[in-house]
Amino acid sequence: MNWESLKSQVRQKTHICLKDNKRDSVNHYLALKYPGVKLEEAYVKISASVVFPEDFISLITINETYFFRHPQQIEDLENHFTKNTLVPYKILSVGCSSGEEPYSVAMSLQSKSINCSVTGVDIDQQMINTAKKGFYNTDEINRSEQKYKNLILSFMDIFHKNSSVLYAVKQSIKSRVAFQCGNIFHMDFTDLDAIFCRNILIYFDESDRIKLIKNLCHFLKKDGLLILGAGELKPQAAFNSLENINGNSYKKVA
Ligand SMILES: C[S@@+](CC[C@H](N)C(=O)[O-])C[C@H]1O[C@@H](n2cnc3c(N)ncnc32)[C@H](O)[C@@H]1O
Repeated sequence: MNWESLKSQVRQKTHICLKDNKRDSVNHYLALKYPGVKLEEAYVKISASVVFPEDFISLITINETYFFRHPQQIEDLENHFTKNTLVPYKILSVGCSSGEEPYSVAMSLQSKSINCSVTGVDIDQQMINTAKKGFYNTDEINRSEQKYKNLILSFMDIFHKNSSVLYAVKQSIKSRVAFQCGNIFHMDFTDLDAIFCRNILIYFDESDRIKLIKNLCHFLKKDGLLILGAGELKPQAAFNSLENINGNSYKKVA
């Protein structure tokens, strides 16, 4: 079995298009996992797993994220939710990585007294474990624009560990955010008010991008929002029941 066949197996099982720049790190991982086994055989062994091991999934995913990434889109959401209801607005963060995106959404809405419940999903169990803990360091907080830092800090408890500072998401936010590990292509949601699907479509091929956007559309209520990342490739074939409202934000119209 060769590298191209392994890529095809990864795509079948996860929908992720494994990039060639991951080849050296995958080969290194397999050499450690199956010592003394030829590379071609190691490809066969890893492909034979019904579900890929957690650390392999972690290796092939790209988890780049930070608090209040593309903040204008989070403001679009606040503006969309004009009524404050007792029933929380249901929001999904697809490919939530280490949790900064769903926590940012909850912080932003909480600061406007808008009732919400946010679910973050990711295929990478290690990222979900990190997200559930809700601990971040100074560098992670400092990646956000200055304008949002005070808001983030107002929803964090501060700890001192050895000589460094650690920030923990406050319970008032954690209680609004739930996390699930899973492949979004195999998950089902209903009656959502908004979905963030940012910086993840780029890891799928055109047919999977179309499939995923159509699935997400089914998860939304009528008038629900689908918020995509700025750099995403957006296949027109998937946008029949979506109307562009601002930049990369879309409303479900049918
Ligand atoms: C680059 S991060 C984007 C994080 C966040 N949405 C943001 O924009 O800051 C992409 C995430 O998508 C996750 N992912 C990739 N394929 C997935 C799939 N099929 N189902 C669920 N999550 C997936 C990866 O594990 C990774 O954490």
